[in-house]
Amino acid sequence: MQNAGLAELGLNWRYLAFDVRPEELRTALQGAKTMQFVGLNLTVPHKLLALDFVDALDESAKNWGAVNTIRFEGRDKAGKWLPLHLFADTQPEKIRSNGFNTDADAVVRSIRESLGIDLAGKRVLILGAGGAGRVAALRIAAEDVGELFLVNRTESKAASVAAEIRRRHLNVKVQLGYPRGEIDLAINATSLGLSEDDALPWDGKQFSLRQAISVYDMIYRPAETVFLATAKSGGCKVANGLGMLLYQGAAAFELWTGHKAPLNVMRHALEANIYGS
Ligand code: ATR
Repeated sequence: MQNAGLAELGLNWRYLAFDVRPEELRTALQGAKTMQFVGLNLTVPHKLLALDFVDALDESAKNWGAVNTIRFEGRDKAGKWLPLHLFADTQPEKIRSNGFNTDADAVVRSIRESLGIDLAGKRVLILGAGGAGRVAALRIAAEDVGELFLVNRTESKAASVAAEIRRRHLNVKVQLGYPRGEIDLAINATSLGLSEDDALPWDGKQFSLRQAISVYDMIYRPAETVFLATAKSGGCKVANGLGMLLYQGAAAFELWTGHKAPLNVMRHALEANIYGS
C-alpha cells in the first residue's frame, strides 16, 4: 500500500518491514533517526512503548495514548521543525522523532465511509477493550455517540475505558455489558476471528447480531469472519477492517510526504496484497 502510493507520487522512497524486539525499540528508533529515515509505523506491542521513546508527541498520540506513526523532523536555522525530506541540500541543526496516532481517526472514517454511519447520537456496542478496542471506544465517544456499550472478557479493562470516557465526555452514556433492543452499530475489536477455530467474540445468549443495524469487524483477514457472516445473514449492513488499515496508512503517508495520499492506488495495492484480487 505505502510503496504503491510512493511510486504513484514518483518518490524514490521505500517502505520496509522490520522485526524489532520490544526491549530493543528504543535503540531501533535511535537508529532510524540517526540514519535519517523519513518516518515509520509501529505495530503491537510497540504502539504503547513508543510513547516513552519519542522526542515529541503530537496531540493525536497524547489524546489516544498510543503511537502508530513517527515522523522524523529536522530543526532549521529559524528554529522550526520540518519533515526531514525538506532538508535535501542542507543538514538540519538537530533531528527529533515526533509521534502521532493515525489509527483513531481511521476507525471513524472507515465506519463513516464503509457503512455510511454518522456516529453522533447513535447506540454502539464495542466488543473488546484491548489496545484497538480502547482507542476505538475513546475516539467513537468523541463523536458524541448517544450510548456506548462495552464488553470485554476481562471486565476490569472495559471498566477502566468506561471510566476514562465518563471523565472526558459528560454527555456520552457508557455502560458495561450488552445492550437491550436495537442498536445502530456493533463492532468487533477483539482478536477473535483471526483464526478459524477461534471462539465467537459475542455471547449469543445475551445478544443477537440481529439487534444491530450495522456491524463492523476490525479484522480484515479473513475478509469475512463468522461475526460478519452471521451479521450479514441476519440482514445487517457489514464492513471489515480493511478501511481502517487503509485510512491509518493514508494519514501516515500524508504526514511523511506532505502530499495527499493516492487513496485508490493504495486501496488496490492493499486488496491485491491481502486478498490477491
Ligand atoms: P489489540 O491491540 O489487537 O487490541 P490486545 O490489546 O491484545 O490486542 O487485545 C485483544 C482483545 O481481544 C482484548 O479485548 C482481549 O480480551 P482481554 O482483554 O480479556 O484479554 C480479546 N481477546 C483475545 N482473546 C480472547 C478470547 N479467547 N476470548 C475473549 N476475548 C479475547
